[in-house]
Amino acid sequence: MSLDTVIAAQAGEKPGLKIPAHVAVIMDGNGRWATARGKLRTEGHVEGVKALRRLVDLAIRYGVKHLTVFSFSSENWRRPPDEVKFIFALLHRFVASDLATLIQNNVRVKIIGSRHELDDGLKRLIDDTQRKTAHNTGLELIVAFNYGGKSELLEATRRIAADVAAGRLQPEDITEQTVERALYTHGVPDPDLIIRTSGEQRTSNFLIWQGAYSELVFIEENWPDFSEETFVRALEEYSGRKRRFGGIDTRGP
Ligand code: FPP
Repeated sequence: MSLDTVIAAQAGEKPGLKIPAHVAVIMDGNGRWATARGKLRTEGHVEGVKALRRLVDLAIRYGVKHLTVFSFSSENWRRPPDEVKFIFALLHRFVASDLATLIQNNVRVKIIGSRHELDDGLKRLIDDTQRKTAHNTGLELIVAFNYGGKSELLEATRRIAADVAAGRLQPEDITEQTVERALYTHGVPDPDLIIRTSGEQRTSNFLIWQGAYSELVFIEENWPDFSEETFVRALEEYSGRKRRFGGIDTRGP
């Protein structure tokens, strides 16, 4: 068992289940969920927020330490403007209305992604939420919003290049840690498990540096149908994987 996992039996949950320290989720399929029911796509997103609340509860209950959710990608700007506006309003509403519960549940909230396109009200809300939950010691909930892995690396590269140009850093002193410190996720361990719902099998520019050695689990259900049963199935699949990080398995045949 790797150091970053604990046997869930210790926490009174299902025996033998390995609990990843960091779970990341690509919450996909809200639109298809809605369309299949003759509903508007936006109704799928509303159900998606309910599924997100279920996931946060599950992460707390199963002892996950860091949970990252992909809630708006830098590519999602290609959607109709009304849908984009709706998702922005949902984030606003989720953060504002769930803050008290998150604080009560000892959750630390971090929102990662590009801030440039966000309005001042949303930026203030994000800063307030991060500040008000900064001292919580339970689950760290990382919401990737207006996030893209390539632009995260681009921003990090610019910051490092500026340090080199100013003479604060020599190119030969740039290490993996230098890059990690320049990412939005600095200080957060890499995800052990990335789950994607809706049957799509790709990572779509999500945590491309951090996910280099993550186990990937693809789930057929659309995001609004995500349940405890889905979560446990993903954890069971993860528990059966051998993580070698480029090395070899030394635990016998
Ligand atoms: C993917 O479904 C979902 C999104 C792009 C938006 C994600 C939003 C939520 C899950 C709600 C929680 C959000 C916040 C802001 C807290 P899709 O629309 O890509 O579905 P499709 O692939 O079936 O069209």
